[in-house]
This record gives sequence, structure tokens and C-alpha cells, in this order.
Amino acid sequence: MSSCVFVDATGPIPAKDAPWEPIVISKETIDDEIQRLAALSTPTNGRRRSYFRHPMNRRSNGLAPGIEVALDVLLPGEETATFRQNSTQVNFVIRGSGETEISGQRRATALYDVWNTPSMRIYRHKNTGDEVYARLTYSNGALLDMLNIHVVEENPQPLLKSIDRDEESADEADNRRRTSPYGTFQLTEDGAWLMPYERLINPPSVTSPALYWPWEQVKAHLDKLEALGKDYAGRRLYLLYNPMTGRTNGTTPSFFATMTVRPPKIVDRPHRHSSAAVNYYFSGAGRSTVEGKTYEWKAGDLMLSAPGWSIHNHASYDEPVYELTIQDQPLNIAMESLLWQESLKEPPALLGAEEGFATNRTVVAG
Ligand SMILES: [Fe+2]
Repeated sequence: MSSCVFVDATGPIPAKDAPWEPIVISKETIDDEIQRLAALSTPTNGRRRSYFRHPMNRRSNGLAPGIEVALDVLLPGEETATFRQNSTQVNFVIRGSGETEISGQRRATALYDVWNTPSMRIYRHKNTGDEVYARLTYSNGALLDMLNIHVVEENPQPLLKSIDRDEESADEADNRRRTSPYGTFQLTEDGAWLMPYERLINPPSVTSPALYWPWEQVKAHLDKLEALGKDYAGRRLYLLYNPMTGRTNGTTPSFFATMTVRPPKIVDRPHRHSSAAVNYYFSGAGRSTVEGKTYEWKAGDLMLSAPGWSIHNHASYDEPVYELTIQDQPLNIAMESLLWQESLKEPPALLGAEEGFATNRTVVAG
């Protein structure tokens, strides 16, 4: 039988591990991997997949400690088996076109479209075009693997009736019926409460929808942000917001996905945040400076651009840059760990627990 090992931590706080290095995976490298996956004989479950694992990762297949990024490929006409997992996903098309089915509902998916796959929904993917269909799939599977609780099933049978059914059927009356009649009540004057077991095993449930953000529609709104002009101090982006994530500002409960446009020759202010950022650039070129080192990138490159709490900034070169950014920010807000330092001249704020930052948008936009 194994026994616990005491680790003496008396006295000074032990040094923290160094952040993982930023890493750029070039378009050429990704194209080669797409080609390699496309050349394999058809797997039984239709899954042609590689993970972009960070070279410093010894615990999961993540590109960042909490962000797994997979490259998924399907040949024309191919369709995967069905899968179900307790991680949540952000899905993004980087080549070709196809169709996704989530809980029996099918949607067409085109280049640069983004959608989320909620936890424990039965899903599958199909290539409906006449060229290779390639996607990036971001998930919190890396974190669940580290927690040793990542459940992934192939060809699952519907089991969880309240989850894998039509989203509309979870109505309010249903929720009311499931509300515990036993009291949760305040214990002390300064706000400590007590909650009974009946509520613990039946917390309020929120419908978790599968939502689609078609690139054509998102781009039309994004391009309007150019009117903010060159003096605008914020970022020209939209978060692809899933309202079920509430105050944690997510696309999934773990990640936000933002679409950003950077006009030519824009240089961000150096800043840092405890959430990690993974960028996929799909137009233009530029550079990022992270902890004093400079990394160049161009359209079609994937980058771990901001390991958590590393000081960084990005700059566009001569053309507009479009990019999809994934950060584990909602997870950090929920954990009350989202330290954010918008300017290195000012102290960080604990976003979600204290007041954050402002831009000069009102001044610029009138
Ligand atoms: Fe950042």
C-alpha cells in the first residue's frame, strides 16, 4: 500500500515553475500534418486526429496546461462515428466545409465558422465538400486529463436524458419541479450559509446550448470596429459569447473565443493575464514579444502566444490581421484566479472579483 509523502514547505514560499515557452506552429507544419492524416487508411471510427502537444508538457496532450488543441481531418464524403465526452469544445474550420451533428441537429459549417460542443452531447462530423475538411478543436480535456476525470466515449448510447435531448424541452416548469423544498439558510450575520444535501445533489441546472457563429456574419460586425480609428486604445474584437456562461464571459464554461481584427501597423501595449492565450492567424502577418523574446507569425500559423502570466504584446505588419484567440479566461474567473494587468505601470486586478479596466472608447467613438 502506498503512503503519503510529506513535502517540507516550512519557511519561504517555494519558487514557482517557469511558464511554458511560447510556440509558433507554422502553416507549413500544419499543412504537412493535414496531408499525413489525409494519407492514412480510413480509421474505423473516422477519426483522423493529432494533438498539438507543447514540448514542455509531461502531463497531457495540451498546447497550454489547460488548453488542448487538436487537428481534425476528414476526406470528402467521410463521416466520423459518434462521440460523447465530459470536456467542452470550441470547433473552428481552417480548410474546406462540412457538417456537424450535435444531439441529432445538423448544421453546415464553412471556413472560419466557430461553434461550441457542450459537455456530454452526442456529436459527429462530416465532410460535405470536395476537398479536405480540416478543423481545430480546442477543449479543456487537457485539464480534465490532469485531474484524471476525462471521460470520452465512442458510439455512446443516450443515457443522460436531461442533457442529450432537444434544448427547448428543458422548460421552466421542469426546473421548478426539480427545485429542492428543503431550505438553504443564513447561519451567521456576516453571511455564512448552510445548504442541505438535497440541494447539493440537485443544483440549479442551466441549459447548455450548441451555438454557431458563422464567420460571414461575425466578420461584418468586426469590420465595423475599424471606425474606432487609430487612437482607440482597446482591442478590435468580439467575444463569441454564449449567454449560459453568464458573468464568466465564455464561449464554453472554460474558454472564450474572440475574433480580432488588427489594422496594419498596430502595436499593443505590453500586458499580462493569468489566463493562457492560443492564437490562430488567418490573414496578414506580424510579431509577438513574450517575456522579452520576439516571435514572428503569418496567416495559417497557430501560436501559444501568451502562456499564463507572461508579459506580452502583439504587432501587425503591413496588412490587416484576422485571428481567433482562445483563452481559459472563464475558468479563471470561476476559480477567482484571473489576475489581469492591462498596463505594467498599474497594479493587476482580480477580474470578476474586483473592478476591471476601461478603454477610451467613449471618447474616441463619441
Ligand atoms: Fe493578452
